[in-house]
Amino acid sequence: MPDAPERLPVVIAETYDDLARRLARRIAEVIRAPRRDGRPAVLGLATGSTPIGIYRELIRMHREEGLDFSRVVTFNLDEYVPMAPDSVHSYHRFMRENLFDHVNIARENIHIPRGDLERSEFEAHARDYERAIGEAGGIDFQLLGLGQSGHIGFNEPGSSVASRTRLVVLDTITRRVAASDFFGMENVPAEAITMGVATILEAREIALVATGEHKAAIVKRAVEGEVDRDVAATYLQQHPHATVYLDAPAAAELTRRKTPWWLGEIEWTPRL
Ligand code: F6R
Repeated sequence: MPDAPERLPVVIAETYDDLARRLARRIAEVIRAPRRDGRPAVLGLATGSTPIGIYRELIRMHREEGLDFSRVVTFNLDEYVPMAPDSVHSYHRFMRENLFDHVNIARENIHIPRGDLERSEFEAHARDYERAIGEAGGIDFQLLGLGQSGHIGFNEPGSSVASRTRLVVLDTITRRVAASDFFGMENVPAEAITMGVATILEAREIALVATGEHKAAIVKRAVEGEVDRDVAATYLQQHPHATVYLDAPAAAELTRRKTPWWLGEIEWTPRL
């Protein structure tokens, strides 16, 4: 792999819709790109509010432009534990409702970590998940949201750069942020299963997406802070093909200090 660029490239769009369209177009390019060995495109996918507009745009491209998912393979980042796949809070259900039910993806090509296993089964499940990613040829494009704890996937503060798919304890910040969805923090699961940092960093291309001014401070740490196990997103600075995609409010803390070196490195996208 080539060396990581000196600073994470940052793309700022004027609005969330512009950002979503741009990312969907990039994902469509990855899906359509011919691969030497003829293997299908492998996407790493995220849940949460950030990717919803991207998935909406991909669905539109499928319906109106014939974007074909029949040979696309997907691996989701994470799932709460415990969590039944049909629960309203389940990431399995989220993915069905927000993407998979609306495109022609083959069910057997969808992979999402399971949150409904016995405790003793998670280790083997995590190993199988890693193996399946390898057997699919590795992840071509990994979509990431950014948690307010600095997490990517559910790699909470303290996660090692060498971490793999595993059971984790959720950070208090993460559980507090999720509290309104679960009607109270006491209902938010204490644990999750997540791809590890090492798993994520093996993706050939990574897009870290953040929107809204509530993300501005953690975006600044992720992009400008020292690489630090307390903010897992900083590990992306070590990746040769990671890009940060922001809307203007999420970029506020970066652009407030528009120093000359920054001006050269931020790409402002025109309205699409
Ligand atoms: C979800 C995931 C999380 C979220 C992050 C941001 O699969 O892995 O890391 O991407 O918590 O969530 P939103 O987009 O809801 O702000």
